[in-house]
Amino acid sequence: MAKVAFIGLGVMGFPMAGHLACEGHEVCVYNRTPGKAQLWQDEFAGEAAPTPREAAQGAEFVMTCVGNDDDLRSVLLGPDGAFAGMAPGSVLVDHTTASANVARELAVIAAECELGFLDAPVSGGQAGAENGMLTVMVGGDESFYRRAEPVIDAYAKMIKLMGPVGSGQLTKMVNQICIGGLVQGLAEALHFAQCAGLDGQAAMEVISKGAAQSWQLENRHQTMLAGKFDFGFAVDWMRKDLSILLEEARRNGAQLPVTALVDQFYSDVQAMGGGRWDTSSLIARLKQRS
Ligand SMILES: NC(=O)c1ccc[n+]([C@@H]2O[C@H](COP(=O)([O-])OP(=O)(O)OC[C@H]3O[C@@H](n4cnc5c(N)ncnc54)[C@H](OP(=O)(O)O)[C@@H]3O)[C@@H](O)[C@H]2O)c1
Repeated sequence: MAKVAFIGLGVMGFPMAGHLACEGHEVCVYNRTPGKAQLWQDEFAGEAAPTPREAAQGAEFVMTCVGNDDDLRSVLLGPDGAFAGMAPGSVLVDHTTASANVARELAVIAAECELGFLDAPVSGGQAGAENGMLTVMVGGDESFYRRAEPVIDAYAKMIKLMGPVGSGQLTKMVNQICIGGLVQGLAEALHFAQCAGLDGQAAMEVISKGAAQSWQLENRHQTMLAGKFDFGFAVDWMRKDLSILLEEARRNGAQLPVTALVDQFYSDVQAMGGGRWDTSSLIARLKQRS
């Protein structure tokens, strides 16, 4: 069992840190809003610290799961940041969906402090975090990965080292490119079924056994048909991810015409007041326009 710090007790971090405590790891949490750390301690066995630096002191592994690049810098750098508290040889495992560039930038600073750094974004959503069934895509040195893998395993069903620092974030971008086009396709299919007077539920039941099957179809068609979106992975987060990957595509020359279009569709959903709606809300935009 390891001594672990967990920074960022949001929708994802709260249950992930909980799985570490339930496995028997010695966990110290930090959350910017202290009330959430208190709620976590009410549910799980572990300590809470008032700053990332104090949470990280004495930890062999420090996990982070915050919002974006700047949030990550703010919990890792500076006098109260986690890097200032970490001992040489300890490893930072970042589960935030962020840019590959920030991972490389922070890995250089970590190395100067004799710390390990792994970028390890996750897929599987809130349910995956709560059930300990996340997919974790990792970038970084193999020696750090081998040490961290058994700890990450507390909340994962699939963990894979993809290459050097930044490769985890690049793989998460591949994941989001798949999801963007897929959800728009599913939204159009359901919208068409409804406009054609079909029973949408029956249509999904039959096509889900054929080549159109997908996680999104299985897990989202019912709520899409019912127009319910107040759960899941927020449109605001998806737009953050799409902006990171479209920027990366501008650098590496990849052509992402559908993804760029879906990004614009999500900006329409934001304008409809759906920034916190689940990403499956693309269907609401189609309904509004028909
Ligand atoms: N939700 C999903 O389904 C999902 C799936 C895969 C990946 N992700 C990614 O995982 C990350 C976290 O997502 P989430 O859904 O858990 O988000 P969330 O519920 O909004 O939680 C964000 C967490 O980060 C903390 N935070 C944000 N900015 C901070 C700052 N500047 N300084 C200190 N703490 C800060 C928040 O603290 P406060 O409590 O004080 O606000 C909170 O603990 C994101 O990068 C997201 O894209 C999410």
